[in-house]
Amino acid sequence: AGPLKIRATPARFAFLPGRESPFLLYLTEQAGKAYQNPILRIESGMRFTASLDNGLAEATIIHWHGLHVPAAMDGHPASTIAPGGRYDYDFKVSNRGGTYWYHTHAHELTAEQAYHGLASFFLVDDDDQRRVNKALDLQLGVTDLPLVIQDKQFDAQGKLLYKPDAHEAMMGWLGDTLLANLTPNAVHTVTPRTYRLRLLNGSNARIYRLAFVKGKTALNFTVIGTDGGLIERPETVGEAFLAPGERLDVLFDAGQAQPGEDIFLKSLAFDPMENEGSSAGMPGMGGMGMGRMMASMSSSRLPLGLEFNILKLSVTAGERIVAKLPTTLSQVKPIPTGGAAQRKIELSMGQMRFLINGYTFRMDEIAFDVKRSAVEIWNISNPTLGMPHPMHIHGFSFQVLERIGSPPQVAATARFGQGRTVSDLGWKDTVLVWPGESVRIAIDFTHDFSGDQTYVFHCHNLEHEDAGMMINFRVQ
Ligand code: C2O
Ligand code: CU
Ligand code: CU
Repeated sequence: AGPLKIRATPARFAFLPGRESPFLLYLTEQAGKAYQNPILRIESGMRFTASLDNGLAEATIIHWHGLHVPAAMDGHPASTIAPGGRYDYDFKVSNRGGTYWYHTHAHELTAEQAYHGLASFFLVDDDDQRRVNKALDLQLGVTDLPLVIQDKQFDAQGKLLYKPDAHEAMMGWLGDTLLANLTPNAVHTVTPRTYRLRLLNGSNARIYRLAFVKGKTALNFTVIGTDGGLIERPETVGEAFLAPGERLDVLFDAGQAQPGEDIFLKSLAFDPMENEGSSAGMPGMGGMGMGRMMASMSSSRLPLGLEFNILKLSVTAGERIVAKLPTTLSQVKPIPTGGAAQRKIELSMGQMRFLINGYTFRMDEIAFDVKRSAVEIWNISNPTLGMPHPMHIHGFSFQVLERIGSPPQVAATARFGQGRTVSDLGWKDTVLVWPGESVRIAIDFTHDFSGDQTYVFHCHNLEHEDAGMMINFRVQ
């Protein structure tokens, strides 16, 4: 069929009927049919070829979030192309089956472009994925639903608003309207059976504490996958944090409610732990007592940590189907860490910006080198003062080994050993690091690309990324 032609282009999009807003979209065409922000779907092990045409008035580039590809195919900000330019992609999809995604990585424009639409799913299939969907009688697009969660602001005319002031540029831009697959007040009709929801946090800066709630009761749901595909066993939980960039693949039994009842996928209230450390003390905050809650002075009408609905599941009559969960989903072989090099990654706060090991991003500066095929353990530490940061690596997946010093709201759900929560299981590419926490991850830098490869490691709070909370690392 030849390479997939993807055109990034300005467009108009109606979030509410009759309320059109300027927007940016990826357009493709297949068999004479046009698609906007298509969900790409490919078999693991296959070759993927595509070309990006930049129809925008500014520079852009596509990054394949979570995929193990050569640096030249990765959408590094240095690959950014000018308006009218084109970039050709050609790589083997070597990742296991899972819910990956693609989005703009334009140098210093990622936040604004992603917020305006340049993002969608990249689903990889494999035998394990098919086995699970077959066992549970799930069908993509019907009972297996990719769901991107985002928050946006709109002005009085219903136009998308993005105007971070200095403070919002520093902390991250929050919306006050919750969107599920670009739909505000989203409602989905379900029958009393099990659904698979592939949840992606595609927000610029908002963290969600996800739960399924009926009336005042949080219902159980079952996590079957994280960033890089299936975990080993289904894990039933009542809540999970999901940070920007992360995915959570969950099964939810809508038969926990009666026909006529509603269930809400919500974000529960939590302590945002945004703590700038200036002015008046606030006893009990973050241990240093010097902090000031930023939420209270945030200009957003929906500060981080407030409770709200994301999606209403409206249960209708239908055959009650009770799914029998497979006891094993997949194999997740632990990365062998004997003799692994240890590396310190220290997050910190500089003048109005956040830093990684003291660095702010410079295109041609390499923060450190890694040996090809080396296994490294990164100890990512976040100071008590500051805020939570979802840290993301390009090119490689990792495993979370341990969480140390977690705040109570995280420690309360850490029942998977070594302080880990359900969101830490399996293969990961993004991990949320809370103030006061150290998270140890193992990364295997094996690759068979020719020559040195330079990738970025950055905070997936997109305002932080654009402000330089990002470093280059080079793998031999
Ligand atoms: Cu989804 Cu460099 O990011
Ligand atoms: Cu990425
Ligand atoms: Cu950050």
